[in-house]
Amino acid sequence: MKILLATQKPFSSVAVNQLKEIAGAEHELIILEKYRDASDLENAVKDVDAMIVRSDKVTAGVVNSATVLKIVVRAGAGYDNVDLQACSDRNIVVMNTPGQNSNAVAELSLGLMIYLARNTFSPGTGSELKGKKLGIHAYGNVGKLVAALAKGFGMEVSAFDPFVEDSILVEDGVSPLKSIDELYSVNDIISINIPAIPSTIKSINRNILNSLKKNVILINTARKEVIDETDLLSAMLQNPGIKYGTDVMPDCHEKMKEFGTRYFATPKKMGAETEEANVNAAVAALNQIIDFFKTGNERFRVNK
Ligand code: 3PG
Repeated sequence: MKILLATQKPFSSVAVNQLKEIAGAEHELIILEKYRDASDLENAVKDVDAMIVRSDKVTAGVVNSATVLKIVVRAGAGYDNVDLQACSDRNIVVMNTPGQNSNAVAELSLGLMIYLARNTFSPGTGSELKGKKLGIHAYGNVGKLVAALAKGFGMEVSAFDPFVEDSILVEDGVSPLKSIDELYSVNDIISINIPAIPSTIKSINRNILNSLKKNVILINTARKEVIDETDLLSAMLQNPGIKYGTDVMPDCHEKMKEFGTRYFATPKKMGAETEEANVNAAVAALNQIIDFFKTGNERFRVNK
């Protein structure tokens, strides 16, 4: 079987070596890293049976360049980079590897909280996380880990997630909130952990941002698309206490930079950039592909 590993942002060599070992002599692992153009991916996908990607854009153009492709595995959580419809139209299965890089993302969320609370390590007085109210927007794999880490810092943790039973939050020592409005209006720090899907795109808008407390830190390790950037800019102007730390550089980055120590964006998405997360996600992706061809296992399928 021919398996393409297409990663514009490459996995660590340790992760890639593990993939080579698992593929062994039985499977041919083709590696396409740091490619510059969509056409490179379109060429590489032509005769492969399976493909592993990260945030690489799997467009209809890419899908339709493939001739024998049966499965695409997004080695990670968010699959907003994959054209699910185009894959379904060609009977191509799409999977993700949920949970495999969550710890890395959760740790980065806490790192960003400290960095912003300490004014991006500029001289002057910052604040501590201890005793602060943290609101978690979506209690999935990442949100749950953010909660556990934050409790270690002595934070008071609450969360809003309409898809998670209150009893699960309570069991974890997290206070369930009734609405998004409540989440954004009562907390000192908010960790955004929602996926970018049609119902969440630009969902964090002026209605929500206008209700933020005076000094609040917003941490976005999800996707830039979930925030309405025009509304974010106005909120930052109107409420000089808001700080925004993000692992996904917004389109309005240049304007946001004018807010100085109230704003920080990682230059490239760093959430899953740890050795451990790379290995976990890459190995899970390859094992899912091998299992799919062997047994038909579609456990982590995300398209219909
Ligand atoms: C994810 O959705 O899993 C994270 O955003 C990580 O994405 P990456 O593999 O492109 O770094």
